[in-house]
Amino acid sequence: MPLFSGRCYSTAKLVGKTAIVTGCNTGIGKETVLDFYKRGAKVIMACRSTEKAEAAKNEIEQRCKDLTEKGDIVIEKCDLSSLKSVREFSKKILDTEPQINILVNNAGVMMCPKGFTEDGFETQFGTNHLAHFLLTMLLLPRIKSSTPARIVTVSSKAHTRYDINFDDLNYEKRQYSAAEAYSQSKLANVLFSRELANKLKENNIDGINTYSLHPGVIRTELGRHLDKVLFKGSRRMIGFVLYPFMKSPEQGAQTSIYCSVDEKCANETGLYYSDCVATNPDRKALNDEYAKKLWEKSAELVKLGDYNPFTATDPGVIKN
Ligand SMILES: NC(=O)c1ccc[n+]([C@@H]2O[C@H](COP(=O)([O-])OP(=O)(O)OC[C@H]3O[C@@H](n4cnc5c(N)ncnc54)[C@H](OP(=O)(O)O)[C@@H]3O)[C@@H](O)[C@H]2O)c1
Repeated sequence: MPLFSGRCYSTAKLVGKTAIVTGCNTGIGKETVLDFYKRGAKVIMACRSTEKAEAAKNEIEQRCKDLTEKGDIVIEKCDLSSLKSVREFSKKILDTEPQINILVNNAGVMMCPKGFTEDGFETQFGTNHLAHFLLTMLLLPRIKSSTPARIVTVSSKAHTRYDINFDDLNYEKRQYSAAEAYSQSKLANVLFSRELANKLKENNIDGINTYSLHPGVIRTELGRHLDKVLFKGSRRMIGFVLYPFMKSPEQGAQTSIYCSVDEKCANETGLYYSDCVATNPDRKALNDEYAKKLWEKSAELVKLGDYNPFTATDPGVIKN
């Protein structure tokens, strides 16, 4: 029996609501889509591989074929290792989707070999943090028009291990460490979610809550790069040792689902969760000056320029 706790027991329905989940063709993202679909939501799967997303969509629809009440699943291409792709995806959503009630920044890459995104950022920081930062900023005007809304960012307990090195985010001056780069990107996830809540408050925007979370240690494809960065067979070995303590993807999705739909946390914002309970993240993740510094750096790196997501007007959908 896996040793874990934490479940979303809410029976809240999402009929008439729209949710976007990034990187959800597998792992806990796929389970999150399944849950929202069963609650009646229109779920937009933002995935880099439309082929893999199609297979996941078919599987979910098959699993739910006997349910009478369910939502709708739509696939849209979004490769988080390309800011161009993030911009194209966001434009398509803004042009076509009248509302966005839930955004789950779920996609992640862990401990990959040294590499860079299309825009030249270290793969994990660029994919896990910067792309989700830009995505959230671009969608915010529509999210503002869709309140009550929730923005959920999937982090990891790994955020506690290392710091963000602002002088060398892309490992140009120091030796690359896959574990450190992952930790840096996951600390950025928590700081981003916290500062987003602060900024929404400063801008007198009500009705949008933010959440970051550690989903647990889960049997997913996240360890796919371990054999390359550690040693051949390490993924299997680690999986074997940790197996009794690991959650299934369905169990691992519970905290994301809790933060997205549960009435119990409907009046909370800017907090960090684990096992469906708000808990303290690492001390570094509670530092507002640090969070502001990351925000400014991220805005500069993704080239937000004069665009202010908090004051920008919702462009509205394009009518045919
Ligand atoms: N599993 C754990 O134990 C654990 C622990 C702590 C935190 N987390 C976090 O949980 C989240 C989900 O991970 P998981 O465990 O479900 O892992 P997973 O099974 O590997 O799923 C990760 C998802 O992210 C997608 N993705 C990766 N790079 C992408 C990109 N450039 N553009 C778009 N999508 C991309 C993957 O798509 P492809 O299939 O196309 O690569 C996949 O759908 C991650 O943020 C991870 O850091 C997981």
